[in-house]
Amino acid sequence: MCGIVAYVGNKPCQSLLLEGLKRLEYRGYDSAGIAVIQDGKLNICKSVGRVANLEDKLESIGNFSGKIGLCHTRWATHGGVTDANAHPHVDDRNGIAIIHNGIIENYAALKTYLEEKGHVFRSQTDTEVLAMLIGELYCPAEGIDLEKAVQAALREVTGAYAIAVICEHEPDTLVVARKGSPLIVGIGADEYIVASDAAAIVAHTTRAITLDDYNVVKITTAGFRTSTIHDVPVTPRIEQLELELQEIELGGFSHFMQKEIHEQPKALRNCLRGRTDVRDGRVILGGLGDHAKELTKLRHVVLTAQGTALHAAMIGEYMIEDLAKIPAIAEYASEFRYRNPIIEDGTVVIAVSQSGETADTLAALIEAKERGALSLGVINSVGSSISRLTDAGVYLRVGPEIGVASTKAFTGQVAVLTLITLFLARRRYMSADTCAEYLKALETVPDKIDQILTQNDRIRRVTEKYVDRENWLFLGRGYNYPTALEGALKLKEISYIHAEGMPAAEMKHGPIALINEGMPAVFLANRGRQYEKVMSNIQEVRARGGHVIAVATEGDEEIKRYAHDVLYVPDIPEPLSPMLTVVPLQLMAYHAAVLRGHDVDKPRNLAKSVTVE
Ligand code: G6P
Repeated sequence: MCGIVAYVGNKPCQSLLLEGLKRLEYRGYDSAGIAVIQDGKLNICKSVGRVANLEDKLESIGNFSGKIGLCHTRWATHGGVTDANAHPHVDDRNGIAIIHNGIIENYAALKTYLEEKGHVFRSQTDTEVLAMLIGELYCPAEGIDLEKAVQAALREVTGAYAIAVICEHEPDTLVVARKGSPLIVGIGADEYIVASDAAAIVAHTTRAITLDDYNVVKITTAGFRTSTIHDVPVTPRIEQLELELQEIELGGFSHFMQKEIHEQPKALRNCLRGRTDVRDGRVILGGLGDHAKELTKLRHVVLTAQGTALHAAMIGEYMIEDLAKIPAIAEYASEFRYRNPIIEDGTVVIAVSQSGETADTLAALIEAKERGALSLGVINSVGSSISRLTDAGVYLRVGPEIGVASTKAFTGQVAVLTLITLFLARRRYMSADTCAEYLKALETVPDKIDQILTQNDRIRRVTEKYVDRENWLFLGRGYNYPTALEGALKLKEISYIHAEGMPAAEMKHGPIALINEGMPAVFLANRGRQYEKVMSNIQEVRARGGHVIAVATEGDEEIKRYAHDVLYVPDIPEPLSPMLTVVPLQLMAYHAAVLRGHDVDKPRNLAKSVTVE
């Protein structure tokens, strides 16, 4: 949603802060701002738009040279996209500046209280309320310094936050805190870099403190102190950040999304490494080991997620029922949470999330746990809020995903859900031989994606033919119904073309009315149980003038008679096919966005990690 970077150390920090902010820009990019204390005075600069706009503005007003500061890139929740609403926010009395990621749920009540105390607000944000509250409580004469004022303010707050705070009167002190939103404190030589994620830190240090909810850290160049919001000292957990710098750089690609599509073979090899034992027909998932017994007895699986992760979860639902023979359902986390779900003995809830921070998914998980479910995570981001909350889990290991449109995380999620399915299936009805067959096929996925990627230029040419059409359909059945949803989502989120995905059969029940001359309809028409039925649906579209783009199995010559354009994927057992069929759809969406001149990695109105419900 928002990206945070803060610094205290022995060197001028503006360029380090802005460089970090650019690495976090994928988290939010509608406005940006910076505050630096210089010669005992707070200097602030904010700008609507990208970090580059902020840089230009700083250039024109004169760059800041202070050695303590903080900066923020915003994705608006409270209040429109204006300079006034951009962070940092300041209080009106003590020269306190704050940046914030998250949401203060009781901000309206706090604002009324503070207005009664005479504070005058300049923005519509919940964050300004927090700045004023800290300012109201700040009273060094009574021993309430910045650290204590932050603790006291956070005791009054409900909601989620990762914050960094500085104050003119304590020009060497940075105070940071978190609850529900991510925050890491990097420990360098005589300097500390605080950020929403490791991407803004690893260029400087790989030693870092990871914070738990309600932790507050007071940092000066002399050292740091970790406590809770109730001022109970906490022993800091110092960890090594795993991220490599090259993983978060473009490395010759034009966009992160393009890089991440092309990284899929390597990412999936990493994901599968050490987890498949073809010889004995078994899956090795250390993360589930402690719960193997409970998993043998489980009776019902709920998979919960949002966005692309939900589409992966839906494929998981199909696989778990089809191969492991356990009733399963995939649900929007936002719906699951509020519909009073029934969790019976033997229910496992699997939260699927790239970031591990999606507020809806986190809330659904908490709900499920409170109702007694065993919880598993299928998460990419190590140490994220969801991964810490689940009872057990399997990390994707596909590397950081920076493009807002999720690609390699999707194939990684499907691969991990395949492994979990086979793990469960082997504890029930599946023979070692059958499992070995699936594992062998799973191991071919990376090479097969490599083959699909060689068709990149042809996929671009096909996309070019249809790129000016404003309405597209994506249709599939069975395992490739969720792939159709994912193809439509990819296209709409980055190219702003209206696209709908649906089960191919559902088309006849309404959407067929939309089909007119030349309307593109993308069919997932690979070989599988419902191939013949998909062929009938293709003909229904053609008969009404639609243009059919089919994703088909290599060697299927017949389909050329029905489709205007065919994109081939290698053959693979049907449950594994979405990991292949999605790749041409990812490339089509990518090329459509580039051809239309859009900013692929920062599509309008979207954020990579949605930390508000
Ligand atoms: C946002 C992103 C999507 C992502 C969804 C779920 O909407 O733009 O790409 O699929 O959140 O994110 P998660 O991190 O939970 O997988």
